[in-house]
Amino acid sequence: MTMKKKPFILGNWKMNLTLVEGVEFAKSLRSAVCDESGIICGICPPFVFLKDICLVLEGCGIFVAAQNIHSEKNGAYTGEISATMVKEVGCAYVLIGHSERRHIFHETDSFINAKIKTALSVNLKPVFCVGETLDDREDERTKYVIRNQLKEGLHGISAGQINELVIAYEPVWAIGTGKTALPEQANEVHSFIRGVITDGYGKEIADSVYIQYGGSVKPENAKELMTQPEIDGLLVGGASIKFESFFKIIETAAKY
Ligand code: 13P
Repeated sequence: MTMKKKPFILGNWKMNLTLVEGVEFAKSLRSAVCDESGIICGICPPFVFLKDICLVLEGCGIFVAAQNIHSEKNGAYTGEISATMVKEVGCAYVLIGHSERRHIFHETDSFINAKIKTALSVNLKPVFCVGETLDDREDERTKYVIRNQLKEGLHGISAGQINELVIAYEPVWAIGTGKTALPEQANEVHSFIRGVITDGYGKEIADSVYIQYGGSVKPENAKELMTQPEIDGLLVGGASIKFESFFKIIETAAKY
């Protein structure tokens, strides 16, 4: 069993809120959790809010993450945003391989792998998302799919780089559906993920890697998820766009 770590709670706003609402949220978060030593926390605003929100949260230990980047550092990719750009405005993390990117925008494992490498090359920490669909689970392919996503996504990533990233397990069938994986179900997959990392990089590194759970996380289920031994944090979608519910999740997680 891994040692419990300081919980890492990340809110993914997806394509929600206005700039004014986002800035207000960030100000409330700053005054509520600034210097809160029991927790690591951050938010993933849409690209066009990043600079304003980074300015609000500057120096208070709350991280800002981008929701995506392109794999190339610059070039003729109209409409895309690079790792260097989000780093320059103050982001510390970036979501890579989120299921909405994989399924709606058809991102492949090799593209995701290239993005992870680019992010690491500019000291931007990837939050690397993996997860099975309902069909995968019903066909008992969960472990096969997740092992593959990890293997392909982490291809060429060294042991030294693994601790620079966070892994997020988000079962696709639990995202935005109100269906949370049972805490034990999530814990089992987290343990499997840690096993795959152990096979590739050794136990010490695997134990120190953060693995977040995401998929219909709410204030009501945060405790039972966070008390699972293999769950190191939460990646929150819908419940992260209202300050009150996100803060309740943070408060709960800080206790476990
Ligand atoms: P929900 O919490 O809305 O299910 O979204 C989870 C998610 O996709 C976070 O990245």
